[in-house]
Amino acid sequence: MSMPYARRATRLAAAALAGAGFATSLPALAQDQVVNVYSYRQPDLIKPVLDAFTEETGIRTEVLFLDKGLEERIEAEGENSPADVILTVDIARLVAVTERGVTQPVEDETINANIPAEYRDPEGNWFGLTRRGRVVYASRDRVEGDTLTYAELADPAYKGTFCIRTGQHDYNLALFSAMIAHWGEERTEEWMRGFKENLARKPDGGDRNQAQAIAAGECDYGLGNTYYVGLMRNNESEPEQKEWEAAIKVVFPTFEDGGTHVNISGMAMAEHAPNRDNALELMRFLTSDEAQAIYAEQVYEYPVKAGVEASETVQSFGELTADTLPLAEIAKHRRAASEMVDRVGLDDGPSS
Ligand SMILES: [Fe+2]
Repeated sequence: MSMPYARRATRLAAAALAGAGFATSLPALAQDQVVNVYSYRQPDLIKPVLDAFTEETGIRTEVLFLDKGLEERIEAEGENSPADVILTVDIARLVAVTERGVTQPVEDETINANIPAEYRDPEGNWFGLTRRGRVVYASRDRVEGDTLTYAELADPAYKGTFCIRTGQHDYNLALFSAMIAHWGEERTEEWMRGFKENLARKPDGGDRNQAQAIAAGECDYGLGNTYYVGLMRNNESEPEQKEWEAAIKVVFPTFEDGGTHVNISGMAMAEHAPNRDNALELMRFLTSDEAQAIYAEQVYEYPVKAGVEASETVQSFGELTADTLPLAEIAKHRRAASEMVDRVGLDDGPSS
């Protein structure tokens, strides 16, 4: 690990002060090591895992949280950007930072061994860290079955029963992109026209609001991410969400020739990473059993690393059989999915 000039200078100065020959008895400098994290993920979500990293390695983390404009900021900072590691949610954003050219590829045996190929960029620009299933929230009172295929969601038998957030949201676009990857555009569009008629109302709100609408009897089914179920169930600050959660059960829809669509949160190495060695160490750590287990407990997501268990809350949803289509493949269809949502008028709600 090369020592940056400034630190070397400090060390030399300290050695001079202590007197020649005492340099070897100086305290370890590990506590001066730092890695700068630019994050779209909420600070309290990533703090436990970053604290564990610091404890294990002595490397401090400095976190800059942004809720938008992360890649623009890194681009504007240019070669002087302090960004080392980028943390974000959703395949769309991981692809966006990569396409913006503010990442650098990482080829690392440990990381590649820990993260299955379908959850990382073949070029090494981004890596998944946690997974979330895009599932059906179904009314506990009004829905009996607990299996569905994605194809069935467009079956006229379900007319007027579904609530969703806007079709243009990243989470839905990734799901529709996965459909295009599995079925092709023509079949997906046919599906979307059918699904539109199965809506109970115009798309609105976030994923949790679909559970709220089910609790209120406005619809029997919703589309949502798995972790929101955990967040609602254990929500002490807004306890009414516990009632929304109590009204639903999780159904894991599947593709006929695959599993349940999952999206990821993930990481990338910033293009100019001034603390590259530390950044690589952090990236390796985030894929370790220890970090993956912390993530699983904190954020109600599924670890990407095989053999690390989901939290008890998440396990209570039932068994996730994740689709194995590579996310890089799915991401290619995002634009087609977005245009399809407009063409079909999904966000206008059902036509009758
Ligand atoms: Fe979310």
